[in-house]
Amino acid sequence: MRTKIALVTGASRGLGRALAAGLAREGYALITDARNAAALEAAAQGIRAQGGTVTALAGDVADPAHRAALSRAAGQAGRLDLLVNNAGTLGASPLPALADYPVDDLRAAFEVNVIAPIALTQLLLPLLRASGGAVLNITSDAAAEAYAGWGGYGAAKAALEQASNVLAAEELAVRVWWADPGDLRTEMHQQAFPGEDISDRPVPESVVPAFTRLVSERLPSGRYRAAHLIPAAR
Ligand SMILES: NC(=O)c1ccc[n+]([C@@H]2O[C@H](COP(=O)([O-])OP(=O)(O)OC[C@H]3O[C@@H](n4cnc5c(N)ncnc54)[C@H](OP(=O)(O)O)[C@@H]3O)[C@@H](O)[C@H]2O)c1
Repeated sequence: MRTKIALVTGASRGLGRALAAGLAREGYALITDARNAAALEAAAQGIRAQGGTVTALAGDVADPAHRAALSRAAGQAGRLDLLVNNAGTLGASPLPALADYPVDDLRAAFEVNVIAPIALTQLLLPLLRASGGAVLNITSDAAAEAYAGWGGYGAAKAALEQASNVLAAEELAVRVWWADPGDLRTEMHQQAFPGEDISDRPVPESVVPAFTRLVSERLPSGRYRAAHLIPAAR
């Protein structure tokens, strides 16, 4: 059987990097991206050092030409089994109230957190359908809860959740999961709490078993929380 391929966006640090490493351990060959080429390559080298295979393509998921390059890489690999739309942005920081949210920042957050994952999924669906593959969209509790200051990010994640929900109803040959990883000790989380000590938050590696369970057991399409998939992860 040929090696399974996973494409993970935002894999230079944080949750994306940990997920990519976890999927490599599960035997997936990887296609990864992030904007900072040096950080992306360093993360890829870390996975290769453990015996993994990585094609790392630097670029911005909001850029249609970069999304086309990712799609070409999957086409050249000849298959795609899993698309993880993990790359995301917090939007404006410190987090502004909606009353004061700069509209250009709001538009940019929707571009990265909603439009880009949908557009990338559109390009990759033919390969995912052919392999009976899966899409994993990383969302957030801010999609469902009303946290003051999280309106821009939360509205974008809510839009991604509903797009995932409809995609699951439309694409019966493909699993579609949208999942909240919970609070994690990452750069984005620090950006949300500038100057605060976030060392009590779990490291991203702690939730990887939740996501590898989703993939290996091919659980039904739907919304998941990492904490519920592996209660000990929190
Ligand atoms: N951390 C949490 O507590 C938490 C909670 C709930 C949900 N999440 C979600 O988990 C996902 C990962 O977040 P994280 O906390 O791991 O964030 P992070 O540490 O800031 O990492 C984000 C990753 O995405 C890449 N990225 C950002 N914008 C990009 C773009 N436009 N194009 C391509 N790559 C891009 C970053 O690299 P470059 O900057 O080099 O592009 C980096 O590799 C996000 O979807 C986030 O919303 C996180």
